[in-house]
Amino acid sequence: METITLSVFRGDAAGGVFQTYEVPVTPGMVILDAIHYIQKNLDTTVACRWNCKAAKCGSCSAEVNGKPRLMCKTRVEDLKEDAKKAPIRVMPMRAFPIIKDLVTDVSWNYRTASKIPPLVPKADAAGKPFVMQQVDVDRVQEFRKCIECFLCQDVCHVIREHDRKDAFFGPRQMVRIAALEMHPIDDLNRREQLDAEGGIGMCNITKCCTEVCPEHIHITDNAIIPLKERVADTYFDPLRGLLTKLGVMKRDAIKQPFESVESNLTKIVQPTPTAMK
Ligand code: SF4
Ligand code: SF4
Ligand code: FES
Repeated sequence: METITLSVFRGDAAGGVFQTYEVPVTPGMVILDAIHYIQKNLDTTVACRWNCKAAKCGSCSAEVNGKPRLMCKTRVEDLKEDAKKAPIRVMPMRAFPIIKDLVTDVSWNYRTASKIPPLVPKADAAGKPFVMQQVDVDRVQEFRKCIECFLCQDVCHVIREHDRKDAFFGPRQMVRIAALEMHPIDDLNRREQLDAEGGIGMCNITKCCTEVCPEHIHITDNAIIPLKERVADTYFDPLRGLLTKLGVMKRDAIKQPFESVESNLTKIVQPTPTAMK
């Protein structure tokens, strides 16, 4: 039977080693299957986190041959050529503190998320039917596909190489903020937070986060760049700066929603009393 060799990190915060395991290859096998084979047949003490095995829970994030990936979405078949040269290397995400083997402590991401204010509906929206154009649905829906795997956070050099968790929220949280900021009913201005504690200026648009996203969210183009533009408009537009200085305009007064495109196809028609009979 065909086999493949895996070199799996074994250890904890104090240090560790890479241990090799020979695993029989089965049709459609993914790296998570190989880890499960090791747990069942070779070493029951290997630790990994997983839940769905369907690329939807975001739990099984790790680094395979140096790339941040979901283990349940990484096919052994696609790594066979590399495996001829060297064992497939599986290690925990490097950007987060290690707990054991392939399991990391990603709680910083949840603590950061809790700092972001939730949706705040416009005051005049209360009690009215909420009409949302399809174009707005599509825009926000892309961001809502996030499975919180934190692979984008892991690959981002601001967090990974420079460990600036103290000053930068990271791409996942930019996606979260974009989903709120671009929601047509939201009325909260998050630009000050983005500029200050969010550290959006630290992102230099390398797009590495976009490349690793298993949900194919256009993190940089659709979330970070529009948010950067909003921050730049507010804090670095010279005309606005002058008007703010003169007291003609408040710096954070304007929330600029993205333009909705009216369409009869997406218009929600309210039933008339006759139609309801
Ligand atoms: S584009 Fe920005 S957020 Fe994404 S990886 Fe690069 S620096 Fe980090
Ligand atoms: S944006 Fe993509 S890579 Fe980042 S946490 Fe969400 S699903 Fe994962
Ligand atoms: S096990 Fe759920 S995403 Fe991999």
